Amino acid sequence: MASKSKQDILSLIEADHRKVEELFSEFEELEGKKAQECFKQIYKELTLHARVEELVFYPALREYEETESYIEEAESEHNSVKILLEQMKSLKPTDGEFETKMMHLQESVMHHVEEEEDEIFEVVRSAMD
Ligand SMILES: [Fe+2]
Ligand SMILES: [Fe+2]
Repeated sequence: MASKSKQDILSLIEADHRKVEELFSEFEELEGKKAQECFKQIYKELTLHARVEELVFYPALREYEETESYIEEAESEHNSVKILLEQMKSLKPTDGEFETKMMHLQESVMHHVEEEEDEIFEVVRSAMD
């Protein structure tokens, strides 16, 4: 893949990450139906984002040996996030369990985003130079 398109992919992924972070902080301010709507958006964003990474970004990284262990970890983190999202989908934001799961979701996503941007992106950027 050309450097230009790699740079574009990284920028798109970063923009998605910022958007999800924003949705998480919006969620904290919301209640009832609006909180439910916000969760639906978080669900949609994360599901789509994970799909794009799994279909386009992670396979493109197979050309770098250094990213192999990161990718395996990243894929298993995607799976945990998917499981949480599905569990939350059948709950209401007012359910006690929902709040705990939301905290867990936010923590997992933040940790994952940090790893992608600090570790995986680092490898891709240094390979582009
Ligand atoms: Fe990811
Ligand atoms: Fe990501």
